[in-house]
Amino acid sequence: MQSQGEAKKPTLTITDNRTGKSYEVPIENETIKATDLRQIKEHAEDFGIMTYDPAFMNTASCKSTITYIDGDKGILRYRGYPIEQLAERCSYLEVAYLLIHGELPTKAQLADWSTNITAHTFVHENIKKLMDGFHHDAHPMGMLVSTIGALSTFYPSAKHIADKAERQRTFYRLIGKTPTAAAYAYRHSMGFPYVHPDNDLSYAGNFLSMMFRMAEPKYHPHPVLEKALDVLFILHADHEQNCSTSAMRSVGSSQVDPYSAAAAASAALYGPLHGGANEAVLRMLDEIGTKDAIPAFIKAVKEGHGRLMGFGHRVYKNYDPRANIIKRLADQVFEVTGRNPKLDIALELERIALQDEYFIKRKLYPNVDFYSGLIYQAMKFPVDMFPVLFAIGRMSGWLAQWAEMVDDADQKIARPRQIYLGHDKRDVPSAAQRG
Ligand code: CMC
Repeated sequence: MQSQGEAKKPTLTITDNRTGKSYEVPIENETIKATDLRQIKEHAEDFGIMTYDPAFMNTASCKSTITYIDGDKGILRYRGYPIEQLAERCSYLEVAYLLIHGELPTKAQLADWSTNITAHTFVHENIKKLMDGFHHDAHPMGMLVSTIGALSTFYPSAKHIADKAERQRTFYRLIGKTPTAAAYAYRHSMGFPYVHPDNDLSYAGNFLSMMFRMAEPKYHPHPVLEKALDVLFILHADHEQNCSTSAMRSVGSSQVDPYSAAAAASAALYGPLHGGANEAVLRMLDEIGTKDAIPAFIKAVKEGHGRLMGFGHRVYKNYDPRANIIKRLADQVFEVTGRNPKLDIALELERIALQDEYFIKRKLYPNVDFYSGLIYQAMKFPVDMFPVLFAIGRMSGWLAQWAEMVDDADQKIARPRQIYLGHDKRDVPSAAQRG
């Protein structure tokens, strides 16, 4: 116990009961350094104590100033600004600038940033040939992962990651070209001709044009849908050290070019537990089919048969603030598109789950993916494009996190340790001995 008047010491004292020795390690930012534990040894030749933390449940892999989440209170902020205010008052390109540069842009900075990103929306004609090589039913996320990786071969100078001008160009290109590659993946799967970027349109408006323009000389996005998509990009722009961002940082720590690191991040996002969850939610709602079938579905989930997709989060143990915004956004979108009939199943599913002891006890609430898919579907995006839409928004966050990692003097190539529990040394038997 700390006696009254005694100064608080920001340290942790650890006693090794094997040796009776005590060690004092500093506490900084409520954290101890894992390497400080290495001095704790039973014998001088020992490696020293490590921490075992599969899936990084309680390990900070970096210091960051980009995104703040309080999972218990349901708070999400980019660079200190609440997500609710950013979604209401800013465009996606402003938010992308904020994430990467640390401050919201001035009028002149925004004009420059938007012009540069717009100027980089076109892709090399050979990208179309690359697209054409995919099977007609290739998943668009698979095509996007490959295309982002392929971009590194078109811009080999991006490997000069310390060159700030080169880095800036890569940011313009990746933010500019990701929607183009995404739309091309969709057009390829439909057998439709590719639509060139229309640089008169907004970031979201141009993406809608590249997706859906047919014979009309000019595509005019519906302003409500254009705004909704822009907000969805903002909500997905960053989420601190999630699976794909960790992949971006981890792969980027080898000093590979950012295109290759972003391809790895996109691959991580593809999985059904991460960016693929919005797709999985829609498939789940289809499988449930009617409201009457919900109790049986919930019962099966509780018995361990599958998960309630779009529910639960590693960090949020409260309502995901993004889900709140999306729920409101859905009403605006459905006024234009007509109500997605699956909304009723989703609302009822949420109502039942939030009253159920299983979900209450585990603090499982709807996450960003629970309602986003319903909006995307109402806007006529096919289900397998959902993770691709997530990737478009997340690109700015990946790049901001990558740049922070590259400039962080504490960072080195990512290289976790392991606890080896395999065989001790043994001799290789001959083929005859193996039987
Ligand atoms: N449905 C039913 N049970 C669940 C769910 C769910 N969606 N999520 C967690 N649980 C249970 C889980 O079975 C476990 O129960 P028990 O303690 O009895 O074994 C407990 O809750 C804790 O689960 P966990 O798997 O240890 O939690 P986690 O932090 O490792 O997983 C998660 C987080 C998001 C992967 C998980 O909640 C999940 O699989 N959710 C469904 C997929 C999903 O919606 N993913 C999108 C996440 S948000 C967007 C993004 O960041 O990509």
